[in-house]
Order: sequence, then C-alpha cells, then structure tokens
Amino acid sequence: MKIGLFDSGIGGIAVLKKLIERFPKFDYLYLADTKRAPFGTKRYKDLKEIVRDDIEILQSFGANLIVAACNTADSVATDMNISIPYISIIDSGVDMIKKEKIGVIATEATVKLGSYAKRLKGKRVVQRSLQNLVSIVEKNMNDKDFIKSVLKKSLDDEIFKCDEVILGCTHFSLVSDIFKEVLKTRVLDPSDRIVEKLAAYDESGSGEIEILVTSNLDSFRKKVQKFGILSDVNLKYRQVDIDEKSHSNIRIVGIR
Ligand code: DGL
Repeated sequence: MKIGLFDSGIGGIAVLKKLIERFPKFDYLYLADTKRAPFGTKRYKDLKEIVRDDIEILQSFGANLIVAACNTADSVATDMNISIPYISIIDSGVDMIKKEKIGVIATEATVKLGSYAKRLKGKRVVQRSLQNLVSIVEKNMNDKDFIKSVLKKSLDDEIFKCDEVILGCTHFSLVSDIFKEVLKTRVLDPSDRIVEKLAAYDESGSGEIEILVTSNLDSFRKKVQKFGILSDVNLKYRQVDIDEKSHSNIRIVGIR
C-alpha cells in the first residue's frame, strides 16, 4: 500500500515521520508543493485547486490512500470528491479533544475558514493564527530560543487559559516540544490520531519513501538534511514540474 501525503513544505514531514516510525513497511510518497507555498495565505478557490492537483499527482505516482499532512489544504477538502480513501487531519485533531475550552493555533486560512471551530460546536474555541511561524520553521526550525520568543510574544492570555490546545498546522508539529514548554497545558498533535487511524489498514509494501518536490528540489533536500528530520531513513527525491496556469486535468509537465 502506498500512502500519499502532501503539504506546502516541510510541515507534513512531522506526520510522515510518525507514520514511518509506527508503520515502516508501508510505501510512502510525500509531496512538498513548494512552488505554491505557503498555503495559509491562499484563497478558498486556490486552495481547492491545490488539493485537487496534489491528490491527482499523488495518485498518478501510485498512492492508494491519502493522508492530509496539511490542515490548511484539509480545510477545503471536506466537500470535494476524493475517489480514494482520505484521512483528514482536522477530523483527527477533533477526535482527540476531551475538554471544553479549546485553543486552535493554525494558519491564516484555517482560522479564517473556522475549520476546527465549525467542527467543535458546543465547545469554547479560541482560534489564533500564527502564519509567520510557518516561514520561521521553514527557515530554521532548530532555533529553539527564537521560536520560543516568537510564541511568548504572539500568544495571549486567552490561549494560555485553554484546557487543551490543538496544533492546527503541521509546521507547528515539528516544534511541538517548544509549544508544550511555553503553553504548559495539554497540547494536541492531530498526527497522533492519524497513526491510530492508519492501524486499521494492512501494513503492506516494501518500505520505500519517496519525496516529490514541485520547485527547487536541492534546497528542499538540504533543508530536510540540515534539520535532521528524517535522518535515519532512506529517501528518494524527485522533482515534479507542474504548470500553474493550466487548471484542468493533470498538470505535471516534467519529472526529474
Ligand atoms: N503546514 C500547513 C498546515 O498544516 C500549511 C502551512 C502553510 O503553507 O501556510 O496548515
């Protein structure tokens, strides 16, 4: 079975890493749609196109199950017609909630669309957008002190008073330890629930992990190596050039 995951960059690797650790035998295909990053500042219509295209690319490379490794993209996927099994990261996060006052820290689009809030009717939901943290994590997720200071500066009392806080952006999952240290409350990472959901499938495959990148493969590869996110597994990289202008059918214009 080949599991396809997609995100705008390195964030979804937090999900991929957890899945590989628990299910090393599945085959994985991770699409970093860096050409269209960041997703969090995009409009609803553009996000829908991204989701449609990225799933199509993953399917054309043989994925037979999709894991949304991006909350922003997943925000618009609910009312889309996806023809293969699809695991929603937002639904997974919602499943984990046990308490009443819930904090959601996410991208601009996820907050604007109220993706978690809509699914948490009856709870008190405090949403906060931390879009600038996405590029900070992309540039240097290992600068713990800086990220800590950004969190302290950006998060307000209302968030500190929440019973549980959801990391509603996979880039934030990469630095979940820093969130836990600063927030001192129950911090939920939806990818933990995705792992549980995937346990329902037969773990078949040969353990191959392939990373597809839509722009600048070398800089993406260097970034993953520099941060040591997947240092203990064998990765195969491939660049997929997509045509951003033709918005119909498949838009892969070259594979390197
Ligand atoms: N990692 C993504 C998410 O979970 C999106 C970050 C971005 O590209 O803005 O929402």
